[in-house]
Amino acid sequence: QITALTAGSIGKDGYRHYMEKELHEHPLVIGQTLQRMIDPATRKVTLPDLPFDLATVPRAVITACGSAFYAGMVGRYWLEEIARLPVDIDVASEMRYRNPPLTPGSLGLLISQSGETADTLAALRSLRADAIHILSVLNVEHSTMARESDVILGTVAGPEISVASTKAFTAQLTILACLTIATARARGKLDPLGEEELVAALMDLPSRAAEVFNQGAAIRQMASIVAEARDVLYLGRGSMFPVAMEGALKLKEISYIHAEAYAAGEMKHGPISLIDRTVPIVASVPSTPLFDKTLSNLQEAKARGGRLLVFTDTEGAERVSAIAEQVVVLPRVHDFVAPILQTIPVQMLAYEVAVLKGTDVDQPRNLAKSVTVE
Ligand code: G6P
Repeated sequence: QITALTAGSIGKDGYRHYMEKELHEHPLVIGQTLQRMIDPATRKVTLPDLPFDLATVPRAVITACGSAFYAGMVGRYWLEEIARLPVDIDVASEMRYRNPPLTPGSLGLLISQSGETADTLAALRSLRADAIHILSVLNVEHSTMARESDVILGTVAGPEISVASTKAFTAQLTILACLTIATARARGKLDPLGEEELVAALMDLPSRAAEVFNQGAAIRQMASIVAEARDVLYLGRGSMFPVAMEGALKLKEISYIHAEAYAAGEMKHGPISLIDRTVPIVASVPSTPLFDKTLSNLQEAKARGGRLLVFTDTEGAERVSAIAEQVVVLPRVHDFVAPILQTIPVQMLAYEVAVLKGTDVDQPRNLAKSVTVE
């Protein structure tokens, strides 16, 4: 059981890069964030006092930049499906200029590791001006966004040094999962048994996340194929689509290989024409209800010569192995938390590719940890 609040010590602690160290902090950070959100006595999600009522907010507007935006996309799937709350989402650099017609009293959900990203801050201010309640998910709790929000939910990820976000992302997902449970309860969409089941799935996650590191050799083997490619296609369906986007972003950021993420079902409307042996396909396919549909998309890609590199789980392993060139088998977890678990190996893959390419992993060219220009 992970209880110590030790994540985020400054120094690489024997790891090659900060990014590697921060990847290994995933289990600890998820555990620490859960400790803050779940009452150990009742095993219920507890939020701070909110200056608005989750039961009656008419909709949520999610906005963020970079990886935080992909966390928000996973949050949208959860809030819509489990809490039945309508959600609008856009990157902050678009949201701030879109001037969408918003119902006053809606919930603005801002997500940022630093709390200083210029576009996210500007989007926060424009939502506030429209009488939207501002709830921010932040890692830096003394940031500008923290000061300008109605309420903050802090990710307990500790300092993140590597420019490419890793542990802050899974901490953001953990908070959004807890927020979904609280919202669903408030709106009468989740009974106590349902909440117990989802909380148990979350509490199980730190140990399952630690098991992902047993797959290091398989991930390095996958990395040796990806490192040779000029273009890589990432696929996923449902909440695995933003996981694919996060994987593609990480690969671009630190290995400088062009990568594109597509909703697996949308592949037939374009990217399928790109597929040949030179474009590896990285897919995240845990055994959720979307498993069969995603697998049939992968079969279409394979029939066109695509090389399939697939992240699945113990339950999906046999059927995936029948068609894929490389498989990484993760623990089977509850469908609800699968996007959190599946994020870890796609980030590890990008890391291993960057190491093979010899890039400056922690300080990739042209990128900044916190982008305070518009
Ligand atoms: C930069 C970083 C990304 C990060 C994004 C948003 O682009 O390189 O890793 O996801 O900013 O940053 P924030 O601090 O708002 O989460």
